[in-house]
Amino acid sequence: MYALSILVSLAAAVLASKPLYYTVPSNFKAAAARNCTLPAEFLVTNFTTYPDETNKTLSAVYFYFSDPDTKIGTVCQRNASSIPSGPSKNIYGCGNANVAFIYQTTGVAGLTVTERACPGGSGLQFEASGLITPDLDCTDISTRTTCHSKKTPIQGDFDSFQPIPPAAPLQKHRLTRSG
Ligand SMILES: *[C@@H]1O[C@H](CO)[C@@H](O)[C@H](O)[C@H]1NC(C)=O
Ligand SMILES: *[C@@H]1O[C@H](CO)[C@@H](O)[C@H](O)[C@H]1NC(C)=O
Ligand SMILES: *[C@@H]1O[C@H](CO)[C@@H](O)[C@H](O)[C@H]1NC(C)=O
Ligand SMILES: *[C@@H]1O[C@H](CO)[C@@H](O)[C@H](O)[C@H]1NC(C)=O
Repeated sequence: MYALSILVSLAAAVLASKPLYYTVPSNFKAAAARNCTLPAEFLVTNFTTYPDETNKTLSAVYFYFSDPDTKIGTVCQRNASSIPSGPSKNIYGCGNANVAFIYQTTGVAGLTVTERACPGGSGLQFEASGLITPDLDCTDISTRTTCHSKKTPIQGDFDSFQPIPPAAPLQKHRLTRSG
């Protein structure tokens, strides 16, 4: 038992400087080999939702994402001209291409952020994800509602680590739709 816990902490020391709230799959050996820092926690600063300029019924989203361990800091936003991805067309990319988010008020409500782990390698890629639920303070400016997170920054933990699905075959989708 004691020997096992030493082994576990040694493995953790190689992979990350902080405790992780997810299990690193055994097929993610590349991380240890490349000695990269795994995403452990993140900060969401100035989370804001506001009516989109061109489509007032659409809620635009803005926040600043940072990961103190991997040193990524990037603006994340979505509006009427943003192009979502994923099977449910609800994933929006941030300024840094290794970071993306989903914000929804139904289903898995809240802000889910994902960060690609050890980017740049070949082979199967993984991403860490975590959910926070910003507590919003909303002001009604002539029926157009802008909301700010009461707390900023909000700290979240990455608690899931999953393989990134291969990019959707766009051509096939088009054919399916027209046929
Ligand atoms: C991993 O990187 C850290 C910081 O750059 C360095 O101190 C450490 O020796 C490296 N470990 C291995 C096994 O390469
Ligand atoms: C957050 O908003 C405050 C007030 O507008 C601003 O001073 C600060 O620079 C912003 N921080 C980030 C990281 O966007
Ligand atoms: C505006 O956004 C709403 C909600 O997403 C959508 O249902 C509607 O079709 C959009 N209108 C236009 C003109 O794009
Ligand atoms: C809309 O969001 C995109 C990112 O999806 C960003 O590049 C663009 O600057 C935003 N436009 C406005 C008007 O905020």
